[in-house]
Amino acid sequence: MTIRKILHFDADAFYASLEIRENPALKDRPVAVGGRPEQRGVIATCNYEARRYGVRSAMASATAMRLCPHLQILPPRFELYRSVSRQMHEIFAEYSHLIEPLSLDEAYLDVSDSTQCNGSATLIAREIKQRIKEELRITVSAGAAPNKFLAKVASDWQKPDGLFVITPDQVEAFVYQLPVSRINGVGKVTASRLKDLGIETCGDLQRLTEVELVEHFGKHGRQLFQAARGIDLRPVDGTHVRKSISVEHTYQRDLPDLAAVQAHLPPLLEELRQRCDRKQLQDDVVAKRLVKIKFADFTQTTLEQAVNPYQPWDVLDEFSRLMTVAWHRGGKPVRLLGVGVRLRDTSGPSGPQVQLSLFDD
Ligand code: TTP
Ligand code: MG
Repeated sequence: MTIRKILHFDADAFYASLEIRENPALKDRPVAVGGRPEQRGVIATCNYEARRYGVRSAMASATAMRLCPHLQILPPRFELYRSVSRQMHEIFAEYSHLIEPLSLDEAYLDVSDSTQCNGSATLIAREIKQRIKEELRITVSAGAAPNKFLAKVASDWQKPDGLFVITPDQVEAFVYQLPVSRINGVGKVTASRLKDLGIETCGDLQRLTEVELVEHFGKHGRQLFQAARGIDLRPVDGTHVRKSISVEHTYQRDLPDLAAVQAHLPPLLEELRQRCDRKQLQDDVVAKRLVKIKFADFTQTTLEQAVNPYQPWDVLDEFSRLMTVAWHRGGKPVRLLGVGVRLRDTSGPSGPQVQLSLFDD
């Protein structure tokens, strides 16, 4: 088996760094990008000064203001962030043809066959970091490793402005002490189940056989078994274009009226949010919101609406409004509700555009 060389890049405090770049008077002050506190806005991100006060992504802006009363909260400018994302992508493309963007500020590069910098992944990462700093005037953190799992962990290891390399002969020792929460897909629930089994690090995890892990964790068991040993066989997927994510639910008893439909919306949205989180999707890649209703007589309707990038966070209100419009088309009891988001193509300026049906039928 040939050993891959994978890089992962993740810009530091991306939106906030760009706002500070555009307005240097903000430098050294706590700065966030997000919605307004008095409109139940949420923080998208903040710079590292603001993080010292405990301000975090996804926190209510009102809470952030309480933690850091002199915090500057700026409205998002997605066009700016997208254009810089494209510029980052153009730099990446000079070093590899195999690039997998994960979000506006994050991407994997497979540089196994790259000839730049004598084929050294470390030197390529250093050069890309330097170029982004000079040409785009922001910092990115980079990780280099034999696979995607470890490259992503590595880019996070010395944030901000970090460069961390895990060579193939360091993998074993590195993963041994790595907390299981660092494994992609291990959230709070799995981490606490593992803790109950006395497992906190990948080293601990190595004590369980693959069969035991599959017994405990189903189909994720095999991935856990491999991750515990620093193995990740997923290739960098340069063709990957995300289309949409949706969840739907058929109710055992029909929902009699609009009030019942509205009452069932929050748990459905929570499920959608969790699926988006698992795929590490962020608000900025959502292009449209969609709802689907199947009425008791099996007629159905779907409705979609483009997301207004200036009000991206009143998600419940927006879906609730869409559901109301859709329900009035039938005005009957409902057997199934669906909610979803259609995603922007963030694979770069020339990436393929696909339009696929959100729901299967
Ligand atoms: P991240 O890379 O998660 O965060 P970041 O770049 O701001 O900070 P760092 O990587 O240094 O920890 O996300 C990239 C951008 O995506 C971020 O600048 C804003 C946006 N975002 C949201 O809008 N909501 C969120 O909950 C998160 C996590 C990010
Ligand atoms: Mg980032």
